[in-house]
Amino acid sequence: MTFAIHTLELGPMENFVYLIHDLSSNRAAVVDPAWEVPQLVKLAKKQNIEITDVLLTHSHHDHINGLNELLETYDAEIHLLKSEAQFWDHDLEKPTIHYGGDRLEIGKTSIEILHTPGHTPGSACYHLDGNLITGDTLFLFGCGRCDFDGGNPEQMYHSLKKLGSELNPETIIHPGHNYAHKCSSTMAEQLEGNPFMQINDLDKFIDYRMHQHDLERETPYSPIVL
Ligand SMILES: [Fe+2]
Repeated sequence: MTFAIHTLELGPMENFVYLIHDLSSNRAAVVDPAWEVPQLVKLAKKQNIEITDVLLTHSHHDHINGLNELLETYDAEIHLLKSEAQFWDHDLEKPTIHYGGDRLEIGKTSIEILHTPGHTPGSACYHLDGNLITGDTLFLFGCGRCDFDGGNPEQMYHSLKKLGSELNPETIIHPGHNYAHKCSSTMAEQLEGNPFMQINDLDKFIDYRMHQHDLERETPYSPIVL
């Protein structure tokens, strides 16, 4: 393994902020810098890590509200998908715009960017050697809401189907919020116990996501079979 993934749970919405640490170079990428940035900086300094990159899963406030503060300490390059940059319509100083399927390298660590729209038009998951950082696309035994501005349950259905069918079942899922009874899971476990991964009919999925789910279930989510 060329990297380690450090997980911080920060802020009032139980966000997970990840530090992808390339062990060969001691460079790191932060996924979704938000909330208590000093904690992130403290962790990086303690481990002698230089944060050189920021990867955004999407542009919602609870995933980006530490961006400016982080950039005061580190001159990091910001990566996001083109469709999210258009949706966000925010002035970033030097963003690197990507398309689904692009790869980026942090030292010897190669990261594939997957376009998984549904929660927002340009939501991204980051795939690296058996690990998937999912933002608000896939939660453990849940998925991101699709009723906010830019949300689309039909796109979410297809994004989740694609992840479930294309990724190795052993892939470790690292979600964007701590909404379950544990912090990470495997794709196999999600295919089995996540209701959103079980529905194989688009109309049923849309009805469940937009109407039923929030009436029936509350956090912490646990495995269920519909
Ligand atoms: Fe979000």
